[in-house]
Amino acid sequence: ERIAILISSRGSNMDALIAACAKPSFPASVELVISNNHDAAGLDKARNAGIRTLVIDHHQFGKDRQAHERQIDAALQAHNISTICLAGYMRILTPFLINNWEGKILNIHPSILPLFPGLDTHAKAIKAGMKVHGCTVHIVTEDMDQGPILGQAVVPILPNDTEHSLAKRLLKQEHLLYPQVLKNFLRKEEPDVNIDALING
Ligand code: GRF
Repeated sequence: ERIAILISSRGSNMDALIAACAKPSFPASVELVISNNHDAAGLDKARNAGIRTLVIDHHQFGKDRQAHERQIDAALQAHNISTICLAGYMRILTPFLINNWEGKILNIHPSILPLFPGLDTHAKAIKAGMKVHGCTVHIVTEDMDQGPILGQAVVPILPNDTEHSLAKRLLKQEHLLYPQVLKNFLRKEEPDVNIDALING
């Protein structure tokens, strides 16, 4: 399987996917990283790992979201990509790309979906008085953050947590969950629920 990862900034989940795919036993290789943003720190990380990178800046297409996605689509086709992983890709996909790659786009979202879709999930979980928080890897469909859930991991929310401390604790689990779920997905194994973090946390 040939994976493309779409990023917008830091790229730590991308890094985790690249590291996992580099292992000989992993059933996929990362062939391409696309960023919509020139400044994405993840671009350097990908280049350092020897992965081909592309910047397809949405600004150059004005409001024409589909024109932006047509270029992304062309790049994905040109590299014979089979599965797309969104990893901190901060643009909502249009039906054009979603339908062209139906069932082949995965995303990681920093909440226990269907709770807290959208942005600011850590603050929302703290504000809601939740005792646990988590992350979800799901298939991308036209309804944002509502596609079929492939795997989840959870962490405790501690009394003195801030958005930052909670995000940091969760990020470690994201880095474990995403590669594991991708592997199961590619092998068409059962969806994976990871409650280790809760048990050990
Ligand atoms: C992660 O928290 C991910 O769940 C969310 O955006 C953040 C991206 O971080 N979708 P990084 O770019 O992978 O470091």
